[in-house]
Amino acid sequence: MKNYSQVHQLKMTPQLKALLTIIRDRKTKRNDFIFYADRLIRLLVEEGLNFLPVKLKTVITPTGAKFQGTEFVGRICAISILRSGETMETAIRDVCKKIRIGKILIQRDEKTVKPQLFYIKLPKDIASRYVFLLDPMLATGGSASTAIKVLKERGVKEDKIIFLNLISCPEGIKKIMGEFPKIHLVTSVVDHRLNKKAYIIPGLGDFGDRYFGT
Ligand code: URA
Repeated sequence: MKNYSQVHQLKMTPQLKALLTIIRDRKTKRNDFIFYADRLIRLLVEEGLNFLPVKLKTVITPTGAKFQGTEFVGRICAISILRSGETMETAIRDVCKKIRIGKILIQRDEKTVKPQLFYIKLPKDIASRYVFLLDPMLATGGSASTAIKVLKERGVKEDKIIFLNLISCPEGIKKIMGEFPKIHLVTSVVDHRLNKKAYIIPGLGDFGDRYFGT
């Protein structure tokens, strides 16, 4: 796969590998799947925060000494691509107090087989915000591409979009980064490929079905 400067992969640590092994295992029961997927999502969200701008800030510690640090600047929101993206909302709420969360539902039109926008609810001032776009699996990239187009139509700047996904694949990355080269794409792992049914291989099956038990 081409090296995209805007694609950021989590460092493959023993912990990350172990968490991925549990959620990939077909034998993992639903409550464990939820628990370990939530832990992984939290790591991803924490990494995503690194792509927000900061400014210098100096504080005085209880020892009376100065500490030269930073603080986040810029307003943010999150947009989840339904339905699996909703599973990432708790983690983002846990780290960003009172964050506004919009929703987008995109489904494949049965006749044209093209992704179609079915439902959208976004913060009114989204054009002035950084946007965390949430979808745990980046497969063909069809839904994410439609979602990003809609965000741009609503005035969001491409370089203010931080797309978070747990498992991606070369096909999806190529599509998204080809169309929107300025976004930040943060993923925990890039898998091998898509199969004929557009499942990621090795992947973990259908994320939404395993998380929601449907
Ligand atoms: N969505 C999923 O849940 N799994 C895949 O493998 C691809 C898309």
